[in-house]
Amino acid sequence: MGLFNPAGGLKYHLRALRYRHHDWWQFRVAIGEWTAQWVPKSSALALVGPSAGYCIPGSLLSRFETVLAFEPDPIARFLFKKNHPTARIEWADDPNFLRVVQTEKGDRVRVLRRFGLPENTPFVFPNFLGQVEALPRTGDDDLKRIADVVAPGPFLTFHNRLSASWSVKSVDRMEQVGRISGAVLAQHFLSEALPKKDSAIEERTLDPFFQRLSELGCDLSQKKWNYWLWPLHPGERVQIVEGIYL
Ligand SMILES: C[S@@+](CC[C@H](N)C(=O)[O-])C[C@H]1O[C@@H](n2cnc3c(N)ncnc32)[C@H](O)[C@@H]1O
Repeated sequence: MGLFNPAGGLKYHLRALRYRHHDWWQFRVAIGEWTAQWVPKSSALALVGPSAGYCIPGSLLSRFETVLAFEPDPIARFLFKKNHPTARIEWADDPNFLRVVQTEKGDRVRVLRRFGLPENTPFVFPNFLGQVEALPRTGDDDLKRIADVVAPGPFLTFHNRLSASWSVKSVDRMEQVGRISGAVLAQHFLSEALPKKDSAIEERTLDPFFQRLSELGCDLSQKKWNYWLWPLHPGERVQIVEGIYL
């Protein structure tokens, strides 16, 4: 599954090889500046779907004594080491995070204990949550169960919110209190409005996750949400990426 994963794998590595030093560069710098503001008190970090860490700032990894990664792509580990030679990374023996949360019944303490992690371990989802819809799923409740596991502790996610093939109007980052609509994002970043079918995809995917977090008492309405443009497939499609942390 890992190497030809629809949300990563070989194609993603080839694309990264081609673009990461130029077209992706501005996005990676923006992610680095943003993650620098997130300082959870923990010696360990759980990282879900890092691939070879193309968009993960080394400065984030270096703050933790242990980084446990869930990543089913077999060549990602080797390339990760090349991209982050000094990171103290360990690879989960079950790399499929969706299966882990299902097996452990969405119970945070069970998930963390299984991997020997402290109870205050924060989770980082680098461009993973927005893609869950495209992955081989373990059930309809995957995103809700992930929310059950992460909600009691700190977490950070940046994920694809919208994709479009239109020309770009602005590359300026947006920071807003409260989550904003796809239409407003399209208006800010793109030179044309986004058709309904495109704007629906990522919102539908991510809604159960955020809905569950609010049911569990996480008030996201007063949090700062960040938005960046990522030319993931330069010249073809751009992604508008959304990020939040607790
Ligand atoms: C779009 S890529 C993320 C890119 C990466 N975070 C980066 O910084 O460049 C999504 C990643 O999730 C991984 N993945 C897919 N299914 C997974 C699962 N069930 N558990 C953990 N990771 C998974 C894929 O192998 C892929 O590397």
